[in-house]
Amino acid sequence: MIDIELIGEDDWQVARDARLRALRESPHAFGSTLAREESFREQHWRMRLRSSPWWVARRAGPPGSSAVGLASMIVEPGSTSDDRHVVGLWVEPDARRQGVGTALLAAVVAAARAEAARTVSLWVADDNDAAVRLYGRLGFSPTGERQPLPRSPRGAESRHELRLD
Ligand SMILES: CC(C)(COP(=O)(O)OP(=O)(O)OC[C@H]1O[C@@H](n2cnc3c(N)ncnc32)[C@H](O)[C@@H]1OP(=O)(O)O)[C@@H](O)C(=O)NCCC(=O)NCCS
Repeated sequence: MIDIELIGEDDWQVARDARLRALRESPHAFGSTLAREESFREQHWRMRLRSSPWWVARRAGPPGSSAVGLASMIVEPGSTSDDRHVVGLWVEPDARRQGVGTALLAAVVAAARAEAARTVSLWVADDNDAAVRLYGRLGFSPTGERQPLPRSPRGAESRHELRLD
């Protein structure tokens, strides 16, 4: 059993732990680096958690068990005000293919609906087959917008969008 939990500022260590594991395990999936985020201090993590909602996935069990997945939602700079944007989706390798990614995205989509958003968007590297398949299965489709990967000279990422209306 997996629980999806919306965490707050005081859970900044939970967020940091999961996010650093994500960057260590999947360095090519995100537009940031482990070295960069390892240097963030408590005040940076608290600011991140204050400025956008973060969800963690936990296995049902004793309280305090470490998160097996993570996702966040932002208003992407430059996007329309009725769009909400998924960032940082990650599931620990041992917990994959068990619906955790789907459950995290469902939490993001529900929050976007609650804010009367009309679309949910994200960027995904073209060669990230697992993520592209996951998003496609949940109804996301490519918008046609592409850009070079932020931190890699090779490859591109594409914007995908889910319409909520
Ligand atoms: C992408 C990711 C979040 C998927 O998480 P997950 O918990 O395994 O996803 P789910 O179990 O909810 O998968 C749902 C469906 O997506 C598709 N899918 C997910 N992973 C897949 C894979 N490796 N290969 C093919 N299809 C896959 C399948 O259709 C799957 O359904 P099924 O297992 O019944 O066949 C996870 O692989 C991950 O964290 N990857 C590294 C980080 C990353 O790439 N993040 C996304 C950045 S844009």
